[in-house]
Amino acid sequence: MSIFGNEELDEMEPTVRVVKNSLGIDLGTLNTVIAKPSGDKFDLYQIPSVVSVKKDDPTAVLAVGEEAKKMLGRTPEDIVAVRPLKKGVIENIAQAQALLIKAMEIGIKEGESVGRIVIGIPGDSSEVEKNAAEEIGRKAGAEYVLVISEGLAAAIGAGLPIAEPNGTMVIDIGAGSTDLVVISLGGINDIETVRFGGDDIDQRIVDLVEEKENVAIGIHDAEAAKIEVGMVHSSADFENLTYEVMGKSLENNRPKRVVIDSKLIADAVEPIIQEIIGGLNLILERLPPELMMGVYTNTVAVGGSSRLKGLKERIFDESDIPIKISDDPMTVVAKGTAIIAAEPLALEPEVRLKAMK
Ligand SMILES: Nc1ncnc2c1ncn2[C@@H]1O[C@H](COP(=O)(O)OP(=O)(O)OP(=O)(O)O)[C@@H](O)[C@H]1O
Ligand SMILES: [Mg+2]
Repeated sequence: MSIFGNEELDEMEPTVRVVKNSLGIDLGTLNTVIAKPSGDKFDLYQIPSVVSVKKDDPTAVLAVGEEAKKMLGRTPEDIVAVRPLKKGVIENIAQAQALLIKAMEIGIKEGESVGRIVIGIPGDSSEVEKNAAEEIGRKAGAEYVLVISEGLAAAIGAGLPIAEPNGTMVIDIGAGSTDLVVISLGGINDIETVRFGGDDIDQRIVDLVEEKENVAIGIHDAEAAKIEVGMVHSSADFENLTYEVMGKSLENNRPKRVVIDSKLIADAVEPIIQEIIGGLNLILERLPPELMMGVYTNTVAVGGSSRLKGLKERIFDESDIPIKISDDPMTVVAKGTAIIAAEPLALEPEVRLKAMK
């Protein structure tokens, strides 16, 4: 059943039916990215993964995306703006479904049926989480739903040589979680998910500023400071930059300006980077030696948090693995899912089976 009607598909012969209107969707903790294949390119759209709901009925979704984000922290008493995903995982099915319907409405013209959608979810998701993603896709009106690991999607979207036996690795550092995925012969060879990402860094910045300055700052200001002047401690020399935000003094509740510098952010990032390096060490410990050359030459970091200055240097300091930072870190997962949605035969049957580990 389609929410947009499916007259067009009904007129076609089932055996020769070409699935129109395929979409790839990266349902992220912070951002949902929609990629629609268009010739050999993609039309890309992005919405914040936020919905607003009634406080006494969290399944009653009132607004989705930008409209809901504007309500964050400023909603009337009986309405709250929330994120349907926490740490990369769907937390509320009704809310995630509203987000997915919005994503499909953005990607597919009104009145047209939704063909195939491919959704990227964290690679270590349980059967229950995977089924939940499939179910919301079908309930949202898609004819055919495929759920695949975000890491594999990122590798495909980044154009990595996934079919080769040598191996390749993707490190996807998002807002809620970090996925480290080794791929060879078109399938997932190994995966490690660390449930830490950019959101945790923002919270740590808030905590550190409070600890050092006795000033409370907003989480969005912390994120802005991180994006503007953030860095990771590493052997490389980076300029210590500063960013000023207005906070609330916890001494007297008065407005107080605080200056956040790159070093404070590097301190805030430290425990999260340690977790990521811990995950990388586990992957390297289990890595078959045959795949080391591929991982050494073809590891790419994606996800918004991969933009942190000094990340590449720090990972090299700790692991001797030279990584490349994707120049398109926030849309590669969606692009990868769209490539599969448009051309699922590009994935061999055994690869499709391995698309989730
Ligand atoms: N220049 C930057 N420096 C550091 N962090 C950044 C930068 N730009 C974006 N980010 C962070 O990237 C994160 C968002 O990345 P992304 O869109 O890949 O996450 P997501 O896919 O929604 O989350 P997840 O994959 O964990 O579900 C946010 O935490 C954001 O603050
Ligand atoms: Mg992501």
